[in-house]
Amino acid sequence: MSYNIAVIKGDGIGPEVAGQALRVLDAAGAKYGHTFCYTEVLMGGCAIDQTGAPLPDETVRVCKASDAVLLGAVGGPKWDSLPGGSRPEKGLLGIRAALGLYANLRPAVLHGALADACPLKPEISGGGFDMLFVRELSGGIYFGERGRANDSAFDTEIYSVREIERVGRAAFELALKRRKRLCSVDKANVLESSRLWREVMRGLSQHYPDVEYRDMLVDNAAMQLIRDPRQFDVIVTSNMFGDILTDEAGMLTGSIGMLPSASLGDGKPGLYEPVHGSAPDIAGLDRANPIASILSAAMLLRLSLGLEPEAAAVENAVLKTLADGFRTPDLHSPGCTPVGTSQMGAEIAARV
Ligand code: IPM
Ligand code: MG
Repeated sequence: MSYNIAVIKGDGIGPEVAGQALRVLDAAGAKYGHTFCYTEVLMGGCAIDQTGAPLPDETVRVCKASDAVLLGAVGGPKWDSLPGGSRPEKGLLGIRAALGLYANLRPAVLHGALADACPLKPEISGGGFDMLFVRELSGGIYFGERGRANDSAFDTEIYSVREIERVGRAAFELALKRRKRLCSVDKANVLESSRLWREVMRGLSQHYPDVEYRDMLVDNAAMQLIRDPRQFDVIVTSNMFGDILTDEAGMLTGSIGMLPSASLGDGKPGLYEPVHGSAPDIAGLDRANPIASILSAAMLLRLSLGLEPEAAAVENAVLKTLADGFRTPDLHSPGCTPVGTSQMGAEIAARV
């Protein structure tokens, strides 16, 4: 089969890590007899430089016409002084909205091979954990009204029942396929939007008797992640709380360089990107960890193209490469083989 994939390499380390993901996709394609046709499009800082806009219309058009979108990362200090509406990040928020991507799946897994890279004591990490964040991605404070008036500024957290329900359903369905536990994270002791969030989630839980449901305040959740990460299976939360908690969870897996993500809506295409940012400080130095991007490509194979064995082959190749001792600088430990971005990609591709 042949598939069309839109590729947004972006800024900073984006092109380096996405390049390795394409290399691994091609290895999977060669092994299983698929052709992946890539169309590169601009978004973020590089799009601002070349077209004047962070999200050119052409990019939206190509993405909508493809089977899936693979994204590197966007942003950097070069564009930091631009006003909010024309920053590179605006491109990212724009493409999420344009494709209707409301459920952002961010698995946070501590693999046995990386147990010693986890900053928690071994008796707390238990040598490994496996949780899945479902972050609401197209609403909340990221998309609410904002502005300035005289000497103040405001942002609005707003959620409708429909927005909460659709991401809630996605989370319950995912929990059913896993260990059947769902924790919804909010700030219902303070925020009205969180009180609605909690009401809707509790209502949904009545329709999923097989899922063990509970809710948790976000400050407590931040603490519980460090106190006992193994208590979690699926966690569903709002756009901003999900942004914050997944960076924290990323660090618990050894490095944020390990965390992939899938952003899904009701139709095609999904968008796949590492949780980490564009890391301008190490851009172009062959130091970035491409694993988050490569694991995002595995999610793309599974969730957008329905290619389960291919996805599993990529994930197993990543695990095998780690077990064989190859480590990018973010994961360094004594006795391991230090490699750069490109060699890490080559080792993984070879193991596919
Ligand atoms: C993420 C990022 C983005 C977000 C930024 C770059 C806008 O931090 O995907 O987690 O906040 O959603
Ligand atoms: Mg983030």
